[in-house]
Amino acid sequence: MINKAAELIRESSNPVVFSGAGMSRESGMRTFRGEEGLWKEYSPEQLSSISGLRADPELVWSWYRMRLIAGKNVVPHPGYYALTYLQEQKGHLPVITQNVDGLHRQAGQTDVMELHGSMRTASCIDKCGFSVHLTSELLRADPPVCPDCGAILRPDIVLFGEPLPPETISRSYELAEGCDLMIVIGTSVQVWPAAGIPFAALEGGAVIIEINPVQTELPHSDNVISIRRKAGEILPVLTGFKEKR
Ligand code: OAD
Repeated sequence: MINKAAELIRESSNPVVFSGAGMSRESGMRTFRGEEGLWKEYSPEQLSSISGLRADPELVWSWYRMRLIAGKNVVPHPGYYALTYLQEQKGHLPVITQNVDGLHRQAGQTDVMELHGSMRTASCIDKCGFSVHLTSELLRADPPVCPDCGAILRPDIVLFGEPLPPETISRSYELAEGCDLMIVIGTSVQVWPAAGIPFAALEGGAVIIEINPVQTELPHSDNVISIRRKAGEILPVLTGFKEKR
């Protein structure tokens, strides 16, 4: 199965990557679901919604502060660099990610669609136009406030109940429908509308190579090759990437 997947990757003329929290697990980020998932300990409604942020900004910011500080020393693992190697081989590799940690870009991938936004910047909750790179100084304020209008700041992440950035989601669906191969890495395929992206790829005639140690919502089908391994271990094997840069 690994040889077949490696051959499909080699032969693909138009591959696309779709990733989720499991892609960053071996870099030290936690996933959301499963035994070790963040949602076992925290409530998404309270900590990751605009109403939760307005109701208790100190609590919500203390959670993001914890995630940002935990993520400070997080660096891309070899699986990330294997994708950059694949981008070099193919000339172009669109990456659609549900992750907000910025690791695809940090590893050198240049066409990255961040469906759920980014944890690296924040903006004014009242949309006065203020936007800023999150620095440790800003994070010290409890909660961080907008220097222009005094409202609280929010991380530039898509919170529960908010729509996804329309251009990003529509381009992602277009890429999915037009690709010949989708590499689906480290996602439980449970959160919509992002979860529809691999199904759009299948409907468009693509083959899926799924990399995930456990079974997900993706169907059993001749067009879905599921490799039950960790991203950081198997992506270098599948792409032929050898050295860590
Ligand atoms: P989940 O936490 O739902 O799923 C992570 C998946 O990664 C699971 O299926 C794991 O089995 C798999 N996994 C764990 N370690 C892995 C490894 N080393 N290599 C490969 N796979 C591994 O995360 P997502 O599917 O990304 O949304 O969750 C989607 C959205 O739910 C997130 O973007 C977030 C959350 O609520 C928002 O914050 C808007």
